[in-house]
Amino acid sequence: MKDFKDKIVFITGGASGAGLGQAQVFKAAGAKVVIADMNRQRLNEAIRNGDADYAIKLDVTDRKAFAQAADEIEKVFGETVDVLILTAGVNTFGPAEASTYDDYDWVVGVCFGGVVNGLVTFVPRIIKKGKGGYIASTVSWGAFGAGPSTAPYSAAKAGVLNLLESYYNALKPYNIGVSAVCPANINSHIYEAALNRPENLQDTGYNVSDKTQNFLASIHKNGLDPKVLANWLKKGMEDEIFLVIPYDQAPRMVEIEMERFRYLAYPGGEADLAALRATPERQAESGRMGAIREGYDVSNTGPIVPPADGEKSDAPPPVFAFPDTGGFGMAKADLDYVDPSKKYKQ
Ligand SMILES: NC(=O)c1ccc[n+]([C@@H]2O[C@H](COP(=O)([O-])OP(=O)(O)OC[C@H]3O[C@@H](n4cnc5c(N)ncnc54)[C@H](O)[C@@H]3O)[C@@H](O)[C@H]2O)c1
Repeated sequence: MKDFKDKIVFITGGASGAGLGQAQVFKAAGAKVVIADMNRQRLNEAIRNGDADYAIKLDVTDRKAFAQAADEIEKVFGETVDVLILTAGVNTFGPAEASTYDDYDWVVGVCFGGVVNGLVTFVPRIIKKGKGGYIASTVSWGAFGAGPSTAPYSAAKAGVLNLLESYYNALKPYNIGVSAVCPANINSHIYEAALNRPENLQDTGYNVSDKTQNFLASIHKNGLDPKVLANWLKKGMEDEIFLVIPYDQAPRMVEIEMERFRYLAYPGGEADLAALRATPERQAESGRMGAIREGYDVSNTGPIVPPADGEKSDAPPPVFAFPDTGGFGMAKADLDYVDPSKKYKQ
């Protein structure tokens, strides 16, 4: 899709962070932007600031409300959307074995279920409109990995990536494009997500507190600017590429991240992978790419290695002193079966 002028663009999670950046960028490109979010106050703020044309309060896990939102758009704009951007998401982290049903139901419900609900609600309408269109979702770099403390989030995001690829292939005959944008760290409010966890899904196995939230806030301050991210997405949609990785060395980054599967597929493969990852060349390359993705030196042991292509920068590397993590990513203290090293002791 090359021209967004007068297109109706609907963005979930549009009141904050990545979604708000998308609203601003597509509005600037001449689109009619509708944002949907649970956060009424931030929706109002976005409308006051002229970041969007119309706002709908919506919980993306509520299928009935999703259909009502789609009806409302048709009533207000006379037709359904041309562009659907499914960005609403939440996260919470802790050891996989500490995860509760509520942890899964909340994170997978919003991050995966919210995307399913958007697709089932809008895809038939967009096809019936008969003018082609575009569907995108803010997935995550986390879709490529499966850390020991990221189970619900990684599973949801990996699921969304596959889901979108299915639609990417299925919707070609209708001239509807599909892109998955996969950023790592974003400068957003996602560290506040736990505050908005639904009343009926409060039982967590993870250590979550003001301290872990403050730690996350300090991490996300170093993240990619939401408007810069939205411009990567817009360019990806213009070029009609499925996987939009918002960094210059995208193909190599994905290659390194996904190579583990071939090593996990034979006995002794993990040791071979560890040896490969221990080589100085690979450490330098991974460190450099990690720093680009996270916005700080992820090894935290020295300066960011300059790019291999010889482009030397005199700018000092970003300095990032890790604050107290407050036991971020650990289990609740009262889970007696969890390895003590994974539990946070105050
Ligand atoms: N922050 C990061 O580092 C990061 C990295 C990769 C991917 N992402 C993804 O980017 C997307 C946007 O997150 P963000 O970082 O901009 O965070 P954010 O918290 O600033 O924005 C997310 C928005 O989604 C809304 N939301 C949450 N649950 C909702 C629900 N049930 N229904 C409707 N709206 C809901 C929130 O109110 C918020 O306005 C998410 O899908 C997230 O997983 C974030």
